[in-house]
Amino acid sequence: MNFFAKIYQFLHSQYLKDKRKDYLRRFNIDPTARLPYLDNTWFHGNITIGKHTYFNGGRIVTGPNSKVEIGEWCAIGHNVNIIAWTHDVEYSTGPMDMRPTVEKDIKIGNKVWIGTNVFIREGVTIGDNSIIGANSLVINDIEPNAIVGGIPAKLIRYKDGIK
Ligand SMILES: CC(C)(COP(=O)(O)OP(=O)(O)OC[C@H]1O[C@@H](n2cnc3c(N)ncnc32)[C@H](O)[C@@H]1OP(=O)(O)O)[C@@H](O)C(=O)NCCC(=O)NCCS
Repeated sequence: MNFFAKIYQFLHSQYLKDKRKDYLRRFNIDPTARLPYLDNTWFHGNITIGKHTYFNGGRIVTGPNSKVEIGEWCAIGHNVNIIAWTHDVEYSTGPMDMRPTVEKDIKIGNKVWIGTNVFIREGVTIGDNSIIGANSLVINDIEPNAIVGGIPAKLIRYKDGIK
């Protein structure tokens, strides 16, 4: 590796350490939670992440009057978008002062596995121990222990031995 690549690598690893510290300060993230791909992670708003959960990358966004709560031991894949703050469908474009926003809390329970490329819409609650399949669009609440997938996400089955 040449000299400049080494310098870049050093500065980049410092930047990632600083970003983790900054995120732990600005958001309610348990210190045991893992954010291993901070290059591809962007958070804004009122966010809680519980013990031992990992988030592999994507966006979590809330407005000033909404929140996203993620429980313990969740496994959240790459490029997952959890967006609690959005446009009003009647006024979705145009000048900012004429565009009301819509905010609804999102709650994700404990031990939830969320696959790659999932989008979770405002207002959704996801039950404990459930699985959201890759590429799903979650617009409705998900029951505990359910395995769901698709656009919009529908029940595939319940985890073995449950229901
Ligand atoms: C949802 C998932 C866990 C189901 O796994 P599985 O139990 O082995 O499921 P199967 O492959 O037996 O498929 C069962 C049914 O669900 C459907 N299905 C599976 N994954 C789906 C998905 N992501 N979206 C929509 N439907 C899906 C299958 O088409 C099949 O339907 P059919 O019975 O009508 O043929 C898995 O497909 C998945 O998406 N895993 C996430 C992978 C990932 O993102 N990994 C990154 C690591 S964090």
